[in-house]
Amino acid sequence: MKKKIFYIENYGCQMNISDSDLITSILLNNGFILSENLDQANIILLNSCSIREKAELTLKKKLEQLKFLKKNKKILIGIIGCFSTIIKNFFLQEKMVDFFVNPDSYREIPNFIYYSIKGKQYYHTPNKNETYSDISFAKTKQNNNKITTFLSITRGCNNMCTFCIVPFTRGRERSSDPYSIIKESKHLYQNGYKEITLLGQNVDSYLWKEEKESMIQNRENIVDFSKLLDLLAQEIPLMRIRFSTSNPHDMSSKVLEVISKHENICKHIHLPVQSGSNKILKLMNRKYTREKYLFLIRKIRNIIPNCSISHDIMTGFCNENEKDHQETISLMNEIKYNYGYMFSYSPRPGTYAYRKLEDNVPKHIKKRRLKEIIDLQIKHSFYRMQEHLGNVEEVLIEGESKKNKQYWYGRNTQNLIVVFPKKSLNIGDLANVEIIDTTSATLIGRICK
Ligand code: 5AD
Ligand code: SF4
Repeated sequence: MKKKIFYIENYGCQMNISDSDLITSILLNNGFILSENLDQANIILLNSCSIREKAELTLKKKLEQLKFLKKNKKILIGIIGCFSTIIKNFFLQEKMVDFFVNPDSYREIPNFIYYSIKGKQYYHTPNKNETYSDISFAKTKQNNNKITTFLSITRGCNNMCTFCIVPFTRGRERSSDPYSIIKESKHLYQNGYKEITLLGQNVDSYLWKEEKESMIQNRENIVDFSKLLDLLAQEIPLMRIRFSTSNPHDMSSKVLEVISKHENICKHIHLPVQSGSNKILKLMNRKYTREKYLFLIRKIRNIIPNCSISHDIMTGFCNENEKDHQETISLMNEIKYNYGYMFSYSPRPGTYAYRKLEDNVPKHIKKRRLKEIIDLQIKHSFYRMQEHLGNVEEVLIEGESKKNKQYWYGRNTQNLIVVFPKKSLNIGDLANVEIIDTTSATLIGRICK
């Protein structure tokens, strides 16, 4: 293999997208060449997801397709990301996949590849404290039109929700050094990025402590999420800042005050609720009640009146009956979220729910309940979109609208998609747009002079 050309395909969440940038940076720094085209590559990396059964099936299907390619061409296939450890035994037997890399071993990816080229296997014990704080990916930007990016601030999760595989695949929670986050954010701004989304399974529990008393002036020794947001908003005043995901159990008033104080912190909170039933929340080990969640929603709306709120909801969790389902529906009716992501429960190997609870809601009932909440959310989204009619809103232009090349596509501070006729602006510009029409998913506007 003379030229080592790699291609990364992403499955799953924003964290995987951010990790792919990180891996790209590591490989480019080690002399590898990136290709945006699978057919031109001789190293194919599949950045896998394990959160739901569907993600697992998609990956297996992709591997089936790659079987033919591997028969006719000398290529290496590596599975990286959340599913890498779980799927390992299955695919090692088939000799289909050459190497597997755990999310805490990405620095070692060049070694995994070199060994595979020699037909050997490389072992590495994942570094449980890894944050990749020192690796910059600001300069690895491939597409010059890309103006938004993700930056992980915590890795792993300590929450142990009973349905969730993340604590097993991504390990214990750890926070990156705030001063590296600030440095990288400034780099990203200097390299043309206009919006950054801070990522973590639970950003609100971000906590960093200086090990030794710092000798550097103006350096905080303890930084929590509110402090991090406050510092960042001041250090990169021209950059939009978003964050995801918030856990209702950990979100503090201090964080809300900081969001409200800074114009460049976007007014949107993704606040997964999972269920409106206290019985189910307890079985899920979510550590808040319906009442506490609703109290938090009121607090958000008091402190940040124009804040949009989105959710994750899971239907058909173990022991969920019709009454529990109706409680989720009534919670949705009470809140009327701007948008949300809805799933039906699938048991994940190794989790508490998989081991100790019965997956006893029949498939057809899960499907029906899921459809009910999706239909309701579409209604609520449409209702919330109407509130924007007549407003003039600031939109960051991210690209051309897919449906109509004469229109720009961007998002307002609430993370809602806005499309509008182009006129003379460019990608990366902030446009003042009057909202004149809506669907349940998109705001339609025109540029104001
Ligand atoms: N089954 C279905 N959905 C799940 N999620 C997490 N684990 C599972 C599972 N086992 C959903 C939750 C979470 C989102 C990222 O994925 O709603 O908030
Ligand atoms: Fe999974 Fe719960 Fe952690 Fe989210 S907070 S990653 S759902 S364990």
